[in-house]
Amino acid sequence: MKILVTGGAGFIGSNFIFYMRRKHPEYELICLDKLTYAGNMETLASVMDGPSFKFIRGDIADREAVYGIFEAEKPDVVVNFAAESHVDRSIENPAVFLETNVMGTQALLDACRKYGVQRYHQVSTDEVYGDLPLDRPDLFFTEQTPLHTSSPYSASKAAADLLCNAYQRTYGLPITISRCSNNYGPYQFPEKLIPLMIANALADKPLPVYGEGLNVRDWLYVEDHCAAIDLILEKGKVGQVYNIGGHNEMRNIDIVKRILSLLDKPESLITYVTDRKGHDMRYAIDPSFIHRELGWLPETRFEDGIQKTVRWYLENRDWWENIISGEYQSYYERMYGKR
Ligand code: NAD
Ligand code: DAU
Repeated sequence: MKILVTGGAGFIGSNFIFYMRRKHPEYELICLDKLTYAGNMETLASVMDGPSFKFIRGDIADREAVYGIFEAEKPDVVVNFAAESHVDRSIENPAVFLETNVMGTQALLDACRKYGVQRYHQVSTDEVYGDLPLDRPDLFFTEQTPLHTSSPYSASKAAADLLCNAYQRTYGLPITISRCSNNYGPYQFPEKLIPLMIANALADKPLPVYGEGLNVRDWLYVEDHCAAIDLILEKGKVGQVYNIGGHNEMRNIDIVKRILSLLDKPESLITYVTDRKGHDMRYAIDPSFIHRELGWLPETRFEDGIQKTVRWYLENRDWWENIISGEYQSYYERMYGKR
């Protein structure tokens, strides 16, 4: 089995590569990654020289390059993690989100049609469903929930999902889609809530909480997401969407306070800042379909996952300190400087 993993130098893609290395050492893995600000070769250091692994630097939206890779490598399966993934950046500059998330997905789909694959899996997000109100805790996103996007990021991800469905129905391409809730764990870029708060707390810098910090996200440890995708590749039904989430809804402010207490830092570091434009209130996945159909259940409880994550950032300071010394500084200034 040869799997092309796009976006494998990013947070979830790299964790997926590590997971698959352990679970299926006999698989050949090829990572295609553009190495944007979010991709990092250091993350892949432990697998780079290992057997059955190849890294190719390239852009999924570069059709010629993608066709060349399919021609040379003939992957059996494609798992597409490659994306612009940060909502705040999409509010600042939507164009690159359409280029990578929509046109890039289309180039991959066309390559799959042209060269043939056993499966194309699209890694999507619960954000395509929009948000839920805080006063209706009985409501959850199911696979039947209509798409209703809020940010340029989520709109681009929804567009890609619709393209996947269209290629499945029109051309019979063997596609599956997963829509996961918020991930956390090792190697997450420190622009996202949890690693940003850990990095700032360790530097005794203010922790910028948007609005009142009451927005709710449904947090899943990254390895549980990887296990779900592996299961979908093995047993999933072509044409099917699978929601992935662990019923672990938490308010942002409670996450931030938990991080502070784990690091033994004072809550006085919390700083309430201007809210994100169009900020989604609550995400909550109903994972009963993937549980019923494929037997998937998350294995990591939030308390264990957050402790492991905080420990990882403490033990791997070089990894994230390198990151926040470069482009990140000007991003941080633009995003938080006058907020
Ligand atoms: P990330 O930003 O950490 O990593 C994205 C990776 O894609 C980087 O390595 C980057 O270099 C690469 N990339 C970007 N543009 C590319 C291009 N044009 N060609 C090739 N490579 C390119 O993102 P992540 O958090 O790991 O998310 C991975 C996927 O999972 C995304 O599709 C995202 O929408 C989805 N997702 C993320 C979450 C989450 O909580 N992080 C939850 C659900 C779904
Ligand atoms: O739900 C899945 C999605 O989760 C993925 O599709 C996205 O790729 C991923 O980035 C994530 O999106 P969010 O917008 O939910 O994640 P983020 O970490 O950016 O923010 C989480 C919450 O924390 C959100 O309500 C905004 C808030 N926040 C975030 C940052 C970066 C703050 O209050 N302060 C901050 O500095």
